[in-house]
Amino acid sequence: MQEKISAITGQFNAELALVTDLKSLEELRIKFFSRNGSISLLFEDFKNLSKEEKPKYGQLLNQMKNSCQAQFDSLKEKLESAAEDNRERIDLTLPGRKKTLGSSHIITQTMEEIINIFAGLGFSVHNGPELESDYYNFGALNFPDDHPARDMQDTFFINKDFLLRTHTSPVQVRLMEGKKPPIRAIMPGKVYRNEALSYKSYCLFHQVEGLYVDKNVTFAELKGTLLSFIKTLYGEDVKYRFRASFFPFTEPSAEVDIWWEPKGKPGRWMEIMGCGMVDPNVLKNVGLDPDIYSGYAFGMGVERQVLRKYNIPDIRILFDNDKRFLTQF
Ligand code: DAH
Repeated sequence: MQEKISAITGQFNAELALVTDLKSLEELRIKFFSRNGSISLLFEDFKNLSKEEKPKYGQLLNQMKNSCQAQFDSLKEKLESAAEDNRERIDLTLPGRKKTLGSSHIITQTMEEIINIFAGLGFSVHNGPELESDYYNFGALNFPDDHPARDMQDTFFINKDFLLRTHTSPVQVRLMEGKKPPIRAIMPGKVYRNEALSYKSYCLFHQVEGLYVDKNVTFAELKGTLLSFIKTLYGEDVKYRFRASFFPFTEPSAEVDIWWEPKGKPGRWMEIMGCGMVDPNVLKNVGLDPDIYSGYAFGMGVERQVLRKYNIPDIRILFDNDKRFLTQF
């Protein structure tokens, strides 16, 4: 009995020394302390001892069991507190992580403002393709093949027949082809020009085109509508002028200027849009009889309105994607 007790004590000590985590400690507990564990079995052996032997080994056995149990408990406590320390802690006093929300670009915001003003005047909204045919961009709009007006716009040609649209006016043609008057619509979108970049020109910009076709549409209505628009966007006391101009697709044609006084610079007129009465040839090209129908059209650059409205001196900053600029709006 004595030998058995020593052997199991030795085995217990050796195995306890190898335990490094709670899982192997549990295996150790089963091996030694469970009902069929080695230490419990020693107590079974004890029952078979003679009366004389019992007191001596009983004491020894109890000492041995208590000592093993104590070592086991102390290691268990150590391992449990280490596991506790390793657990991920949540520090409720830390400030939260800020999530920044994106917002729409100032060009988009201004375009939406323009669209809303015209929607309030009864205009619907239409889109057309950015990759356009020569016919829609020029031919249908009364630019003859050899007309110098084609040079007014430096064009990104894709091939002989297709190009990146240089203005949103081709959408007028698409609209008139597909719908009988009355037509009262605006057509916002991107346009492209192969121009030298400067403070007021960029190779890509946005336009909002407008078209109203019906019987008896007059220039007075065009002027009234545009005035109402300008005053809503820039305020009642905006200084403006209509100036005679030329476009192949309108007759007569005009341009609208508004007065601008950039900070620290002398005041000047800035052209914000072209407009006019739809040329009879354009109406004929889409199958409308110019003796029955007339219409007005206009087209404005959105970036120009942004520069004027927010007093920004250079168009290029609108395309830089610099957050220090963009987050101001
Ligand atoms: N498409 C012209 C341009 O890009 C602007 C324009 C002028 C549009 C007169 C019109 C218009 O609809 O009637 O310069």
